[in-house]
Amino acid sequence: MRLALNMSLHFPNLKASPLADNLKSKLLGGLVALFVVGLTTIYIYYRMKKPKAKSKILVLGGTGYIGKFIVKASAEAGHPTFVLVRETTLSHPDKSKLIETFKTSGVTLLYGDLSDHESLVKAIKQVDVVISTLGGQQIDDQVKLIAAIKEAGNIKRFLPSEFGLDVDHHNSVEPVASFLAKKVKIRRAIEAEGIPYTYVCSNAFAGYFLPTLGQQNVTAPPKDKVVILGDGNVKGVYVIEEDIGTYSIKAVDDPRTLNKTLYIRPPANVLTFNELVSLWENKIKTTLQKIYVPEDQLLKSIKESPFPANLKLALGHSMLVKGDCTNYEIDPSLGVEASELYPEVKYTSVDNYLNAFV
Ligand SMILES: NC(=O)c1ccc[n+]([C@@H]2O[C@H](COP(=O)([O-])OP(=O)(O)OC[C@H]3O[C@@H](n4cnc5c(N)ncnc54)[C@H](OP(=O)(O)O)[C@@H]3O)[C@@H](O)[C@H]2O)c1
Repeated sequence: MRLALNMSLHFPNLKASPLADNLKSKLLGGLVALFVVGLTTIYIYYRMKKPKAKSKILVLGGTGYIGKFIVKASAEAGHPTFVLVRETTLSHPDKSKLIETFKTSGVTLLYGDLSDHESLVKAIKQVDVVISTLGGQQIDDQVKLIAAIKEAGNIKRFLPSEFGLDVDHHNSVEPVASFLAKKVKIRRAIEAEGIPYTYVCSNAFAGYFLPTLGQQNVTAPPKDKVVILGDGNVKGVYVIEEDIGTYSIKAVDDPRTLNKTLYIRPPANVLTFNELVSLWENKIKTTLQKIYVPEDQLLKSIKESPFPANLKLALGHSMLVKGDCTNYEIDPSLGVEASELYPEVKYTSVDNYLNAFV
């Protein structure tokens, strides 16, 4: 057999025997297969080496409190970033400065309004991902955004305006309960339309809570006495806004967060209120007088206080008395924890953050 093969290779014009012909065609077939496998390997190698294009992200509410951190994180992560702004906002003294910083970071401004359907569809068609950081007043109106996303038909991921507690897991009282119910309605509308989503539960914004340690009617953290809702032994979660931006943007292209909730619970920032007070006391080297407010007294104050004091107290009740940031396990079929998913993110700890206020 080897002789026949040698003969046919070295003397191709030699009168071929059926055996030699058969071997020749097998050899040719083998070479072709080898060539195809080689090409495929090279193709896969280069596909893996080539960085995947980053999704184009549109932010609605980018000029708002949390929105600006999301826009910054998106641009810094190299995503082509678009912000839908209302033309009237361009002349707002503070917001016009913010918009200038967007432009210098390469962010594209698109003009429109939540109530202008055409402007929404036009903006959405230019991107892959939509993030809404619209404010509390616009939660219901996100149905307009959902309708525009549905019509555009190209969106790979939608992050609605959440950025707080898990609205499907809480023990809030009014007026917080009705507010969270609006976010629940938006979740169900997204799911009913089959829009791919990620819900970001960022827990408490550090900047809202820590500069005053959650005390009412003050502008600095307490130096002599502190009001503690409940017994102070319930775990809350405080997340620095830049980190909320970083984690949210990491999630947009991540298949592990598709149709899931991203819970941001950085371990060093999961603290009871007593632990928080103790951290602060160590920094100012003072022992504060503690004034504990039992739950029944707190519920009475919530009922008797005008808006927005009642809202702040009810949020405190939910987070610091009922433990709504941490009183449930994350169901892996529904959610993922951000610091576990992205251990490379060096988040800011509450301990470090508080140093700025000493
Ligand atoms: N976890 C926490 O501690 C915490 C605290 C606060 C808020 N949140 C949540 O975070 C989310 C965002 O709230 P935020 O306080 O950051 O919002 P915000 O500061 O009130 O900003 C609202 C944004 O929506 C824009 N907007 C309003 N109406 C619009 C319209 N008709 N068309 C287009 N844009 C419009 C505003 O634009 P202009 O600049 O043009 O006005 C602004 O950019 C909400 O879901 C809220 O519940 C969480």
